[in-house]
Amino acid sequence: MTKRKTILDIGQMKAQKEKIAVLTAYDYPFARLMDQAGIDIILVGDSLGSVVSGYDNTLPVTMDEMIYHTRAVVRGSEQALIVTDMPFMSYQSDLRDARINAGRLIKEGGAQAVKLEGGEHVAETIRAIVDIDIPVVGHIGLTPQSVHRMGGFKVQGRQEAQARKILADAKAVEEAGAFAMVLEGIPRGLAREVTEAVNIPTIGIGAGPDCDGQVLVIHDILGLCDKYSPKFVKRFADISETIAGGIADYIREVRAREFPTSDHSFE
Ligand code: KIV
Repeated sequence: MTKRKTILDIGQMKAQKEKIAVLTAYDYPFARLMDQAGIDIILVGDSLGSVVSGYDNTLPVTMDEMIYHTRAVVRGSEQALIVTDMPFMSYQSDLRDARINAGRLIKEGGAQAVKLEGGEHVAETIRAIVDIDIPVVGHIGLTPQSVHRMGGFKVQGRQEAQARKILADAKAVEEAGAFAMVLEGIPRGLAREVTEAVNIPTIGIGAGPDCDGQVLVIHDILGLCDKYSPKFVKRFADISETIAGGIADYIREVRAREFPTSDHSFE
């Protein structure tokens, strides 16, 4: 039986200067493929609201949806560490709610850790969850659940005051007990500064090459989402065309009575 990676393995990767490869997955087949390829962490991201459910942002995603998708990802994987996002309003209102919802993602979903967005203002929440032995990943910089405050999905930390605030957020997240943090949508130099200032691994997305690891949304790297492609995304394959071609061939063969044949029939 393969042993799943733990938060200790991820911490050691920073110490040994090994890059941490992270991808999102939301279902069994994708989890299986990336797990077999050796991905370090699978993030069941609330980005599923956009890439799976077709919403404009992550705000409508519910706890029950996160649990459902986490279960599928856990069943599809054997060796990766599984981290699940706490959706909008599952941890913002009070500490009791935050603990109960983090617990549900572990107990009902099967995740090993949870991720939540925010810096200094969520430090107490991170501490409350870590105190009941649930590992937490922080997420600072461009935090998609704050889309309305930010006035869109905009790079954060370009002005000096904002950059100082992001550095303070990173320290608060570490001090609160998170074992890693996502740095999203911040200038490369600031991401380097944060990475050097904290002892826990930083996982970048739109934060340049100097973080301890990298995360991207699986639909973005495979060309499955043609709505909008941010600058930080690299397309490693284009499977939309392959899928569209297969579907078009199926429709044509059914209409032309070429499929099914006796090869596909029972006597
Ligand atoms: O929801 C998500 O997929 C994320 C990552 C892209 C960091 O939070």
